[in-house]
Amino acid sequence: MKIIKLITPAICIALTLPVCVASGQAKKKVVAKKKPATTVTKAPPPPFATDAEIADGKEIISKSDCLACHKIEEKLVGPAYTLIAAKYPQNQNSLDTLTKKIITGGKGIWGPVPMAPHPAISQADANKMIKYILTLNAKNPATSSK
Ligand code: HEC
Repeated sequence: MKIIKLITPAICIALTLPVCVASGQAKKKVVAKKKPATTVTKAPPPPFATDAEIADGKEIISKSDCLACHKIEEKLVGPAYTLIAAKYPQNQNSLDTLTKKIITGGKGIWGPVPMAPHPAISQADANKMIKYILTLNAKNPATSSK
């Protein structure tokens, strides 16, 4: 009798324990595992101007008549290139506006004296000239491409 008294609880525990464990596991499975958030890494935007474009722009300017009216750091007939670099952000909008200005000329932005038109200069060359001018000011950060 003594032995049975001892064995019975033992059997009970032995029988119920796997059930408990099994139900516990079943509950765990129901809990949906959250996937770690996937981080989307954006590619850095292309630079406003490459070193080659800046070097080309500088050379074309030195071969054209620009320096008759413009100095890099001082006002001559036209504004200093560093002032132009400080005024316009490095983006496509500035590039379009100023490229057009080199080719067709114009006045009224810096004063009453007109900028001479340069119809012989190609759009590609004018683009490089502007890229050179707008990178003269190191404080001028590259901004959005609007
Ligand atoms: C006859 C003199 C003269 C020559 C030559 C000249 N510029 Fe200018 N440039 C000016 C004047 C004056 C202005 C200011 C125009 C204004 O106030 O809108 C100016 C303005 C500019 C601007 C700023 C335009 C703006 O709208 O803010 C750029 C960029 C520029 N010149 C580049 C050049 C380049 C590059 C060349 C050579 C291809 C050149 N310039 C040749 C007189 C000249």
